Amino acid sequence: TTRVALTDLAAKKAAREPIVMITAYDHPSAQIVEAAGVDVVLVGDSAAMTVLGYDSTVPVTVDEMIMLTRAVRRGLSRPLLVGDLPFGSYEASDELVIATAQRFVKEAGCDLVKIERGGTSVDRARALVHAGIPVVGHVGLTPQSVAALGGYRAQGRTAEAALALRDEALALQAAGCSLLVIEAVPSEVAEMIVAALEIPVIGIGAGASVDGQVLVFHDLLGIYDGPAAKFVKRYADLRGAMVDGVAAYAHEVREGSYPAPEHEYRMPEDESSRLRE
Ligand code: KIV
Ligand code: NA
Repeated sequence: TTRVALTDLAAKKAAREPIVMITAYDHPSAQIVEAAGVDVVLVGDSAAMTVLGYDSTVPVTVDEMIMLTRAVRRGLSRPLLVGDLPFGSYEASDELVIATAQRFVKEAGCDLVKIERGGTSVDRARALVHAGIPVVGHVGLTPQSVAALGGYRAQGRTAEAALALRDEALALQAAGCSLLVIEAVPSEVAEMIVAALEIPVIGIGAGASVDGQVLVFHDLLGIYDGPAAKFVKRYADLRGAMVDGVAAYAHEVREGSYPAPEHEYRMPEDESSRLRE
């Protein structure tokens, strides 16, 4: 298996072949997305909500993200691996962002790291690129600033806001970002941004004009038990299948039909007869 390279993503964009990106948070989900043939895997800080039970992405720590990202790394060989720098681990200075990103590269084997927003994050992105670490930008609905954005809602819905988003995207590209994620913006806005940029743009709730899509593993497989955003399509109901499986086990234990003879270990006959002596 030859590993996906950043140049492969640029080539896909040039050939208008959509790039497939998805999140994963542990070893089995990494093996599953690899087997399904995705191009890029993000260990998103959405892990805060999908696997750690926090009610936003804000509380998750670098140590928690590193543990999850290491587990994903051990399950992946072909796709590119993107680490997601959590809230509070990179905003304050170039020194901080480099130190944090180096942990994701050295300890967790990430190929790229992702940071949210424009503004000071443009400087942080430039510092990372100068330090030799490829960067994914993330604009539009940026969940780490949900309080400042006034909730989980689509961004760039006025012409001014849309042009400001385009300027952020251009600044992140000029800072050297290799990829840009755009989340929850009107399709017209995404289309304008894609037309303005040269780097591949990955959308989530950004319509079909972008160069690729990303979705959260637990959302698309129907594992996450909560209200889903408009852009989520459920391709399976794994939560239902898992509850049914565990309920069937509980039922069989209680009625005595599990374990059956085929699940039991037995002694050789001569040994069991000695037990009865
Ligand atoms: O944390 C995450 O899962 C993300 C993607 C939705 C882009 O940032
Ligand atoms: Na994220």
